Amino acid sequence: MGIITITTTAFNDQKPGTSGLRKKVTVFQQPHYLENFVQSTFDSLNDIQGKTLVVGGDGRFYNEQAIQIILKMAAANGFKRAIVGQNGLLSTPAASCIIRKYKAFGGIILSASHNPAGPNGDFGIKYNVSNGGPAPENITDAIFANTQNITEYQTIDASDVNLNEIGSQFLADMTIDIIDPVEDYALLMADLFDFDAIRGLLSNKNFNMRFDAMHAITGPYAKDILEKCLGAVEGTVINGIPLTDFGGGHPDPNLTYAEELVTEMFSDNAPTLGAASDGDGDRNMILGANFFVTPSDSLAVMAANADCIPAYKNGLSGIARSMPTSQAPDRVAEKLGIECHETPTGWKFFGNLLDADRATLCGEESFGTGSNHIREKDGLWAVLYWLNILAVRKQSVAEIVGQHWQEYGRNYYTRHDYEAIPSDIAKQLMADVELKLPNLVGQTLAGRKVTYADNFSYTDPVDNSVSSNQGLRIGFDDGARIVLRLSGTGTEGATLRVYIESYENKPDKLQQDTQSALKELIVLAEALAEITTRTGRTQPTVIT
Ligand code: G1P
Ligand code: ZN
Repeated sequence: MGIITITTTAFNDQKPGTSGLRKKVTVFQQPHYLENFVQSTFDSLNDIQGKTLVVGGDGRFYNEQAIQIILKMAAANGFKRAIVGQNGLLSTPAASCIIRKYKAFGGIILSASHNPAGPNGDFGIKYNVSNGGPAPENITDAIFANTQNITEYQTIDASDVNLNEIGSQFLADMTIDIIDPVEDYALLMADLFDFDAIRGLLSNKNFNMRFDAMHAITGPYAKDILEKCLGAVEGTVINGIPLTDFGGGHPDPNLTYAEELVTEMFSDNAPTLGAASDGDGDRNMILGANFFVTPSDSLAVMAANADCIPAYKNGLSGIARSMPTSQAPDRVAEKLGIECHETPTGWKFFGNLLDADRATLCGEESFGTGSNHIREKDGLWAVLYWLNILAVRKQSVAEIVGQHWQEYGRNYYTRHDYEAIPSDIAKQLMADVELKLPNLVGQTLAGRKVTYADNFSYTDPVDNSVSSNQGLRIGFDDGARIVLRLSGTGTEGATLRVYIESYENKPDKLQQDTQSALKELIVLAEALAEITTRTGRTQPTVIT
């Protein structure tokens, strides 16, 4: 089994986005496409000789083929050991957990998160570093630079690895350990939460729960932890078998795409708690009976109730949220007297804060919540966190969130997405809004005064690195905000995201319908950006 060097030519479209490289499966299937990116990744890392690499993915179409290619290249490039989830499966949070637990040098995760899968769907690859988190920008920039100059890559001439069999195998000089994808992650969860209290809750006849795995990776994790270990009745987990095309669905846990769950949770016989996770298991949606918890509120409520959870009851060092996430968590941080950080969109920006213990809980409005237990957001962890709160407080989800609003006020929040807009139109729209920003400051719009309007730039307080051009913000004197940015994860044209928020603390105004409460700001955002005129769209593709 000798190492072979294959001659290749560069592809010009391998720039990693918000979360790794995502493209259509058919793009990844082009000869040398995946190989170029993997070699460019290895070449961006210092001294991989003799190191350990974790490899796994969300099980979507092309997962196993990609893993065979990656393992051969890892062996040829000098890795000593690869830890691989059985059948090539690892949720993103489990991969992060395993990188940390086994002190691996890094990991390759194959996923396009919540994007649809199958032969005509999307595929993705990303590299995570030794803290278990997504590679920071200096590495993703180096990877991209390498992809533009690559002329050859190394692999070995060997037969495929048996991904099905737990245990050790060899590929040239590299050991491959095929492990149970769930076990290490489940042990970590048992360490963080009060499993006995959750068992008590789940055995209570008045409590029932539904978890929608959306035919994606969290099925085996949820069945094992919720049903087998914590005693939730069989059938609590629905759509629990991972399918290579995610059942033809769009495994994004939000009110639009988690339709089956949402219908049940807003019915007469709704379960007490509803939850869903995404393609690779890092997102979560939390619902009570006839009640939706916005991800921003979820982070705020979790922070305010940290004393219910064994792992966090001694206090939080800080909270971090992405810039477009609502400011609800900021009020909790203020009350707790802890740091609150506003970072650009993307989990990679939380890594330094978590490593430096400047934040314990982190979250994004895009249904992502997590903590310092790993360095990725974590869907099932958030569900267990909520179960633990419910077990301690013995109230409904709606009561807990309602009381939170009474205490802190409510941040009404919505995101309007306009998907698959021609890229040039989207870029021009953003450029033109940016030009308008300086003149907006001081003006009264939608009945409020604009106090700032800028293009968000972030200076990391740990390493002082600067990330600019991270979204356009318009802030008002009453705490309201309009934020516009273009998605960095889409694979078709451009997706414009418009984030809208307002703050309300009058006790009798806390139960309004979100879209109505934000109406004026929604109309203002549309007018400022001239969305309909420029894109022809009269309404968003998705509202969350
Ligand atoms: C989206 C979300 C962002 C999240 C990312 C990866 O990125 O908005 O919060 O970190 O997916 O899950 P975007 O498409 O907006 O760049
Ligand atoms: Zn995801």
